[in-house]
Amino acid sequence: MIEKTHDVIIFGTGLAGLRAAVEIARTLGNSVSMAMVSKVQIMRAHSVCAEGGTGAVLRPEEGDSLQLHAWDTVKGSDFLADQDAVDLFVETSPKEIKLLDHWGLPWSRDPDGRISQRPFGGHSFPRATMAADKTGFFEMQSLYDEMLRHANYERYDEVFVTSIIIEDGQFKGLTAYDLMSGECILLRGKALLIATGGLGNLYGFTTYSQTVTGDGQAYAYRAGLNLEDPEFLQFHPTGLVPSGILMTEGCRGEGGYLKNNKGERFMEKYAAKFMELAPRDIVSRSEMTEILEGRGFPGPEGLDYVHLDLTHLGADRINHALPLIREVCIKFLDLDPIKEPIPVRPVAHYSMGGVECDLRGACKARGVWAAGEVACVSMHGANRLGCNSTAECLVWGDICGQEIVQFMKTHPVLPPAPKAAAEAEEKRVFGTVLGQNGSENPYAIREELRTLMDQHMGVYRDGRQMQEGLLKLASLRARFANIGVADKGRVYNSNLVNVLETENLLDLAEAMITAALAREESRGGHARRDFTTRDDVKFLKHTLVKKGPKGPQLDYKPVAITHWKPVERKY
Ligand code: FUM
Repeated sequence: MIEKTHDVIIFGTGLAGLRAAVEIARTLGNSVSMAMVSKVQIMRAHSVCAEGGTGAVLRPEEGDSLQLHAWDTVKGSDFLADQDAVDLFVETSPKEIKLLDHWGLPWSRDPDGRISQRPFGGHSFPRATMAADKTGFFEMQSLYDEMLRHANYERYDEVFVTSIIIEDGQFKGLTAYDLMSGECILLRGKALLIATGGLGNLYGFTTYSQTVTGDGQAYAYRAGLNLEDPEFLQFHPTGLVPSGILMTEGCRGEGGYLKNNKGERFMEKYAAKFMELAPRDIVSRSEMTEILEGRGFPGPEGLDYVHLDLTHLGADRINHALPLIREVCIKFLDLDPIKEPIPVRPVAHYSMGGVECDLRGACKARGVWAAGEVACVSMHGANRLGCNSTAECLVWGDICGQEIVQFMKTHPVLPPAPKAAAEAEEKRVFGTVLGQNGSENPYAIREELRTLMDQHMGVYRDGRQMQEGLLKLASLRARFANIGVADKGRVYNSNLVNVLETENLLDLAEAMITAALAREESRGGHARRDFTTRDDVKFLKHTLVKKGPKGPQLDYKPVAITHWKPVERKY
């Protein structure tokens, strides 16, 4: 095993990880040594797929305000968001937009030169700041360029982390598999930022890249940290059928309509004021209701759909504001949205839950922070508003970067090497897992897991369905113990990586379904057919899931309610 030592380890180099790294790099200069660890190359992080925008209040003179952004976010969250976190978020995000502007991000501009903003779901003012429909790509590019100005970090691209080692409540290191060399690495450090993004490959119909497998959540969970609110998975209303590729909410922000098979703009029935720009939980449920009641269009493999109609926007607007959407529709479906409506349906898109952390991103182990989708601060509660995710990555990337800078100034001692734990993990991965010769195909198990989640943990759930899901999951886990790993090589063994990812997804599925079964109410993205209303008496609280010897153990903690008591959500 190779041992490498740095001051700070950034695990996951998407938007949140890169933003934190820039902050640490520019503040501490050459007095710090950072490791930037990613299972892919930096510009292949899933953040580059973010399309529609980044939420921030930039036009107070026209009527927007921090308070309005906070209220929209809290109401959108179905009142499960921690309101102190929301306040910190709305106060910080405008600065991030301006900083990225200084770092060269080509924000879309109005004719008068001001940074453009467009409407987004659940926001009562247009505040999605965008670079056409490729916002995440340009944010990543700008941060990456900024990072190139510094020399105080080492890149560990295509290095697959296999565990986080926390001993005696303190971060000690990561174990990792270097795909290029085939070596096992023990990466020691004083501070760790977990910034690995979501877990969307739990689902078959998803907007996520194949690489998004919840590795950070799973390792944190196994290392003894809590997962918070994992039952809240967001379904975005407009996944392209049949691939699941995101058709940005910007399509509706630019004026696109949702229509059923009668040509009706059905959102009129469900959210007469906000229409297509109601929050995602509401729009996704409305679409499913239309489809289940026979007003959808028949799609392949049961993927019935509704229409996203942009044809009335005209070629100029589509080419200017939604060029990627047009390109994707033409390339994947041979369909030109200037002329024809786009087939869409709700698609797994975002985890509101994640690793429990405090307001400043600190987890319950010394030297560990989490930022971005992997974390649960919690500012999204039970339902995130569109364009608040890339903004969250920037805001908490910055905050965690600052916190780690302070930590570096006050805690200069490297903890002792966790030799025994690292050696045990090396044996587990390269002995036990790589050595498995059982009869079960791990890819079949992954596929079945994704189908299970599509069927048992979808837009609508009920207790019986979820119980059945747990039983099927137990059987998948039993079969997983008898898999065969066909590729026995050490160099670039993607077979081994896929098996380890599937192991992570299986653990996370169990935590999610267990938490969802226990939440006997409907709130935000968690819509139960057997408990159809929100229950603030019993469930105005965050779920905490800890990994126990026999599986997930549940606990709860209060929501931080500083301004707004829950009221009925009307749009
Ligand atoms: O629709 C979108 O462009 C997605 C944005 C988001 O998830 O915030």
